Amino acid sequence: MCGIFGYVGKRSNAAQIVFEGLKCLEYRGYDSWGVAVVPTVGSNIKNQISKTSNRIIVKKRIGKIGGAAVNELPASHFGFGHTRWATHGGVTEKNAHPHLNEEKTIAIVHNGIIENYTELKQHLLKKKHSFSSETDSEISAHLIEDYGKRNDFPEAVRKAFVDLHGLNALISFSAKENRLVGIRNGSPLVVGFGKGENFIASDASALLPHTRQVYYLEDDEMVVIKDKSVALFDAKTGKRKNLKKQTLKWKQESDRLGSFKHYMLKEIHEQPAVLSRIVKEDLVQAKRLASEMEKSYGTYFVGCGTAAYACMAGSYLFSAIAQRHVNWAVASEFGFQLEFLTKKSFVTAISQSGETMDTIEAIKKSRAKGARIGGLINVEGSTLHRTADVPLGLHAGIEKGVCSTKAFASMISHLILAAYACSHKLDEGVFLIKQAAESSKKLLQKDSIDRLKFLAKKIQHNEHIFVVGRGLSYPTSLEAALKIKEISYIHAEGFAAGELKHGVIALIEKGTPCMVFAPSDETYFENIAGAMEMKARGGYIIGVSEKNHEVFDYHIPVKQAGIATIIPNVVAAQLLAYYLTLEKGFDPDKPRNLAKSVTVK
Ligand code: AGP
Repeated sequence: MCGIFGYVGKRSNAAQIVFEGLKCLEYRGYDSWGVAVVPTVGSNIKNQISKTSNRIIVKKRIGKIGGAAVNELPASHFGFGHTRWATHGGVTEKNAHPHLNEEKTIAIVHNGIIENYTELKQHLLKKKHSFSSETDSEISAHLIEDYGKRNDFPEAVRKAFVDLHGLNALISFSAKENRLVGIRNGSPLVVGFGKGENFIASDASALLPHTRQVYYLEDDEMVVIKDKSVALFDAKTGKRKNLKKQTLKWKQESDRLGSFKHYMLKEIHEQPAVLSRIVKEDLVQAKRLASEMEKSYGTYFVGCGTAAYACMAGSYLFSAIAQRHVNWAVASEFGFQLEFLTKKSFVTAISQSGETMDTIEAIKKSRAKGARIGGLINVEGSTLHRTADVPLGLHAGIEKGVCSTKAFASMISHLILAAYACSHKLDEGVFLIKQAAESSKKLLQKDSIDRLKFLAKKIQHNEHIFVVGRGLSYPTSLEAALKIKEISYIHAEGFAAGELKHGVIALIEKGTPCMVFAPSDETYFENIAGAMEMKARGGYIIGVSEKNHEVFDYHIPVKQAGIATIIPNVVAAQLLAYYLTLEKGFDPDKPRNLAKSVTVK
């Protein structure tokens, strides 16, 4: 969940290099940040690391990086930094990383959760160690100090890491040596190779400004990084391993905001182009997914959050388009309902980041049952993309806004195309995705934006918003409610419209905003009937539909695109969520308590 970045090399502005790396990783956590370096002393011989000062200088702050700087940090050839998503210990400067041991000779940055933290701390307290933070992470610095009494530094880090239970990644350095030690089991780490310098980060996108030569650490691997060498070891045995670099082939995309105020708005506006690119470039992939599903006996889509709602929609899409039953599950629950999986099962992970720990764990358990693994993943090179038997790209481009938008549109597009490929009518799928792109484009025009802005102004003070739909509009409603919840902090709830009269309608009172998805399909009249039931209890009906209807108090026109209308319908909800968030004065890109990729269980 946290972002980690490390540097060792010929340049003496390690603090600045690390700081820029953290900015690229801030979407992974923005409760606090910190940088640690070891100042250089004496002359700076060209391309050679000068002597180090055996002192560790740390700067750490609460909150987002924003306009902060690290100019006051001394010249240094190596250091690292961290952006935090708090798991253990409140959001304080003391709990911000990096953490040091008592003697301030060892520094660590950590991503993950140390499950046996309490007993390790008890053990260290008995050895008279004292702690300056409430975090689980800090104990690793003290453990390394302890093992360092009888082992060299890398071995001390390895032994300390082996004592940690849970899914973790750690980087450490000692003030006495100019090398970084990185070690992983669960949370991601990638090494970047330069000339006379090397890097390590939680995510390869932060390495792109420096290099395309990388190595993704697998679980239970450790690296010792110097300016001119990187050595790979088995973290469990300490044995040396061969390291095979790979070249990132990603298209260098501008992740600049350009004229947009927020990444979320930029990414919403990129959706029509993303859809057009998918129907041009990804039809082979759709056929591949279809043939894998046809070969299997039992197909499952698993994911979390927005990706889980795409999995759910996938189940409706394959039933309607390909008359094929596809199961779906929330990944964090799938582990408790997969005992029936066999070698003939095909489990596809759907994920934007490819690093969501709940999905990774569900896939590990499915593979242990012998299932074949597919991956529909946006970040190529990520853990889920690398470990899938059938890795497929979402090709939505870099998505930086924590609130996922274009990744959802591309998930749905790929599922629609694969379903049509299953029924050998791929052209029909292509036609509908193109219509969905046109309809989304229309929603992004000024008159439609003004309409959504006006609605946002109108309902911003409501505490609750209910979102309903039937059929494919049920997962649409769940996704719409999630968008509103996660960035505007208004309690929005999505329901299957049919469930209203079984309880939920009791929550409707005078003026309660009720968003009703009423696409021109077999669910239209029942959705309108549901709207009338809510209106009868005083609900303020927001109709998302092609045609206006007298039951609507507010109409959001959406041009239909057949079964692909789910895409523009969600675009309308994304825009409403965005403008509600602006009305309420919150940051749509970095919502509180969230992070872009959830790398803890
Ligand atoms: C969506 O806006 C959220 N950021 C979150 O629910 C997200 O969809 C979920 O954490 C899954 O992430 P993934 O697609 O990267 O696996």
